[in-house]
Amino acid sequence: MTSPVKPISIGPFTAPNNIWLAPMAGVTDGPFRALCLRGGAGVVCAEMVSAHALHYANPRSLRMLRIDEREKPVSMQIFGSDEQTICEAARAAEARGADIIDINAGCPVKKINKAGAGCVLMKDPAHLGRLVEAAVKAVKVPVTLKSRIALKRGVLLGPEIARVAQEAGAAAVIMHARAAEDVHSGEPNLDALAQVCQAVKIPVIGNGGIHDGKTAQAFFDAGCAGIMIGRAAVGNPFIFTDIQQELAGRQPAPLDKRRRVEIYLALIEENIARYGEKIGLGRSKKTAGYWLRDFPNAAEVRGRFVRMETLVDIRALFKSLVF
Ligand SMILES: Cc1cc2nc3c(=O)[nH]c(=O)nc-3n(C[C@H](O)[C@H](O)[C@H](O)COP(=O)(O)O)c2cc1C
Repeated sequence: MTSPVKPISIGPFTAPNNIWLAPMAGVTDGPFRALCLRGGAGVVCAEMVSAHALHYANPRSLRMLRIDEREKPVSMQIFGSDEQTICEAARAAEARGADIIDINAGCPVKKINKAGAGCVLMKDPAHLGRLVEAAVKAVKVPVTLKSRIALKRGVLLGPEIARVAQEAGAAAVIMHARAAEDVHSGEPNLDALAQVCQAVKIPVIGNGGIHDGKTAQAFFDAGCAGIMIGRAAVGNPFIFTDIQQELAGRQPAPLDKRRRVEIYLALIEENIARYGEKIGLGRSKKTAGYWLRDFPNAAEVRGRFVRMETLVDIRALFKSLVF
């Protein structure tokens, strides 16, 4: 069987491969994106940025648009509810070097939904189509839409959303194969995803629960042109290469605990270099559960780690874990 891993064209942009890093707020910042590219991701997606906050030149949101060359190709995701701010945000992300602009129409977080953005956009496909069309007209880089197969389990919306996005000029659709009410848990619904793939000609990039070659293959079998990996990349940024190997019939070497701790320490150091000790450490600690696991006393180690405030202490703790 030939491997489904190959370059993928998203409008005028061609990515080196079709296994991408999913956008994750609080996780997929610059240092983590660079790490995943080294781990074989075809494209890395940034944390969602508020179009409204960019409109008001919020310094934190503006900082989130920072891209450096080690983090490309990158897709910048924006969220919002009106055409004007979506256009402004798309232009701002393009000006900073985004290869792709992605619009979020899948986030189930209440605060985002209350502002009319994220998955609630699925309730009004015509409005969603206008947002996509406005962004497409505002920038030269391709625009994609990330959405979900449904708001509620059993009430399929994905095919219609994908068709609307295609008609509005989106270059691809990213489809999380879970209903919004399921947030990030439960099995992905691959039958529903297959219906999305059949509904449109533009590439569909499938997402939800992919963690190895077998789960990845199931998404390609459903008709996806590409796949996107979220949580399984946290704690193993080499999952992109591992899956490529598995799909080519080879068995990747598992990432051992010692190497995982070394990679985590390097990431913490990058975060501190980029954001300063306080913010860099704060960001790093959020994902401790993914990195510091499989040790006999992992919970206790994580407890000690999250109370630490200096890199010197953290280096000593990590050294005691791996030597
Ligand atoms: C911590 C976290 C943050 C997330 N933030 C975003 C986001 O900013 N934008 C988005 O479209 N999806 C976001 N997601 C959803 C992921 O992109 C992805 O769709 C979801 O995790 C399912 O993929 P997975 O099962 O491979 O993790 C987030 C998920 C997690 C766990």
